[in-house]
Amino acid sequence: MTVEAAPFYPMERQGSCPFDPAQQLRDLTVDKPVSKVRLWSGNEAWLVTRNADLRAAIGDRRLSCDPRIAGFPHVTPFVETRQDVPRTIIEMDFPEHATYRRMITRDFLHRRVEQLRPRIERIIDDLLDSMLATEERPVDLVQALALPVPSIVICELLGVPYEDHAFFQTRSNVLFSRDATAEQAMACFQELAGYLGELVGKKAAEPGDDLTSRLVTEQLMTGAITPEALVAMLVLLLTAGHETTANMISLSALTLLQHPGQLEKLRADPSKVPTAVEELLRYHTVAASGARRVAVADIEIGSQLVRAGEGVILAYDAANRDGSVFDDPDAFDIDRPDVDEHLAFGFGPHQCIGQQLARAELQIVTRKLIERAPTLRLAGDLAELPFRRDAAVYGLQELPVTW
Ligand code: HEM
Repeated sequence: MTVEAAPFYPMERQGSCPFDPAQQLRDLTVDKPVSKVRLWSGNEAWLVTRNADLRAAIGDRRLSCDPRIAGFPHVTPFVETRQDVPRTIIEMDFPEHATYRRMITRDFLHRRVEQLRPRIERIIDDLLDSMLATEERPVDLVQALALPVPSIVICELLGVPYEDHAFFQTRSNVLFSRDATAEQAMACFQELAGYLGELVGKKAAEPGDDLTSRLVTEQLMTGAITPEALVAMLVLLLTAGHETTANMISLSALTLLQHPGQLEKLRADPSKVPTAVEELLRYHTVAASGARRVAVADIEIGSQLVRAGEGVILAYDAANRDGSVFDDPDAFDIDRPDVDEHLAFGFGPHQCIGQQLARAELQIVTRKLIERAPTLRLAGDLAELPFRRDAAVYGLQELPVTW
């Protein structure tokens, strides 16, 4: 009897539609929803692709987020080797996770984000003013709008000077690249940590009205967090929201341009923008590396027994195209009644802390683009666009547009 080798993960996207997850991943959802995959390191892990299995397993305390535990399915060499870097909330379990997450929850609550909306609108209007005033065409929507929006917003929230964005965006790109070596990623992490460490010093000397200052005065100065852990948290906050939201903005614009019927519906009734954004989040699921966990006790997922010490990857992208939850899951449909079942921001205790902020940014950008750039169109061929196939966050390196 021949034993079939476990397929390599992450699977290559191929086929005509760059918006669809890899076919191999989709097939697993139907044929073998909890199956073994092989990682870059040669290690194996269980891949969970069905929406219901993922929801049932992800909050179970027999699955740990701690990357130091043997068997953890590391996504890149960097994550595997950075043992001496303090862990952040994304890598912590209860109760440590709850303690640290509480330190920042209030800044990302719906109520707080609603107060930020007028400022976010202003930021987006200013960027659109500059973009639409450009004589030269085509314009790269990634540089003109998609990257600066989340970047300016998170900088203002954290009290990081936006003038330094080129510095931290280049480092953050390397951190999220699957191709970066451990050394390259570690060097970038350390540069970011050095930069944010200096910022912490400045905020301690002269606190401002921002999240970093609040963390310094309320947590660092009271001894609730160490300087190293605070800096690691700031690196996470500065980078996590950037890539994800920026890629969602450019993919969303492209998707609407590629689906003129849906765009027309949205134009006719802008009150559909919030649900259209949820559908865009489901359809793309930019956090394409899934949630990584390691079993710390035996656990059954689906009908598969996962042993303690085995790695588990919960594939949000596959779960968001699960036909047992979403009717016609590959269709992009802004009127989808089942869209609330999507898992683009994760599920359970580690669900994205920045989701209300990301939603506000995506909703405002979508509405403003429709209102202010009604003749926007893709400048070039869809097949030629540089999709970010090597990154843990899916998206576009460049999106040439004209109007
Ligand atoms: C469209 C944009 C975004 C998407 C698709 C997204 C996606 C996700 C997902 C899937 C997770 C869960 C990971 C897991 O289960 O292991 C997560 C966690 C997280 N996200 Fe986001 N995110 C976005 C925007 C943001 C923003 C704007 C911030 C702002 C700071 C942010 C900060 C975080 C943090 C700190 C966590 C870890 C939460 C925890 O472990 O308790 N994200 N995000």
